[in-house]
Amino acid sequence: MGAPELRVLNDSKELAGEAAELFVWLGKQVIEQGGRFRVALSGGSTPRALYETLASRPFSERLDWKRVEFYFGDERCVPPDHPESNFRTAEEALFGPLRIAPERIFRMKGEADPDEAVRQYEALIRERFGAAPPAWPSFDLILLGLGEDAHTASLFPGTAALNEKTRLVVVNQSPKGVKNRLTLTAAAINQAQTVVFLVSGAGKAGAVCSVLEEDDGQRGQGVARFPARSIRPVKGRLIWLLDGAAAAGLTIAKQGIASHEE
Ligand code: 6PG
Repeated sequence: MGAPELRVLNDSKELAGEAAELFVWLGKQVIEQGGRFRVALSGGSTPRALYETLASRPFSERLDWKRVEFYFGDERCVPPDHPESNFRTAEEALFGPLRIAPERIFRMKGEADPDEAVRQYEALIRERFGAAPPAWPSFDLILLGLGEDAHTASLFPGTAALNEKTRLVVVNQSPKGVKNRLTLTAAAINQAQTVVFLVSGAGKAGAVCSVLEEDDGQRGQGVARFPARSIRPVKGRLIWLLDGAAAAGLTIAKQGIASHEE
């Protein structure tokens, strides 16, 4: 993997706009090559602004949404209509407004027995991507958020999921909020063609530095403390989209908005 691409936007509105431009640009590329654009959405609250931007003009008209398949990077073990459900956030801000057909939405079943839910989701991904073991499915795009403790998806510091090397989807526990989570593993995420971190707000500045700049020498140990460091795509692109507040602690030169067409 090359160095991550870093883009710093002035504020959260510009951040959402840049993320939407990137989403549509990547999607067009895949669809024009005859494919279906398969995306795994991140959880939390940050993506809502991106979803609302994609569901509004001009973006709502710039992609053939019938050729997009939506998956999830992680989910809380709650029903799909629960306020904490990542699916519910996407349903309200993206799937509903764009009238995405249910058959193109593949949610993790937070309401089911967690062990059964991850087994089913892994089987579903492998079947839809035609990737039986030992092959690895490769999402076209995986969107990720970043927690203040440098977790991403539901890969939390010091948890067993961080050591998973062969499974695609596992159950994990969160130290805050809904305890049980379903999550793609770093091994699965690192097979994607493009991975995009979408990070906004001063509260994340410390975590951004811990992941992108500080190096405690033993890289492996750093992953246990800063799980987002485990995201290093094997062949794909890694892009960090940050607003100024989230990037405020970085010492490296703040790049302008490099075109994603490079
Ligand atoms: C989740 C996420 C998680 C999230 C970060 C950032 O289900 O909570 O997938 O990794 O992306 O915690 O969350 P915010 O965007 O709410 O700050």
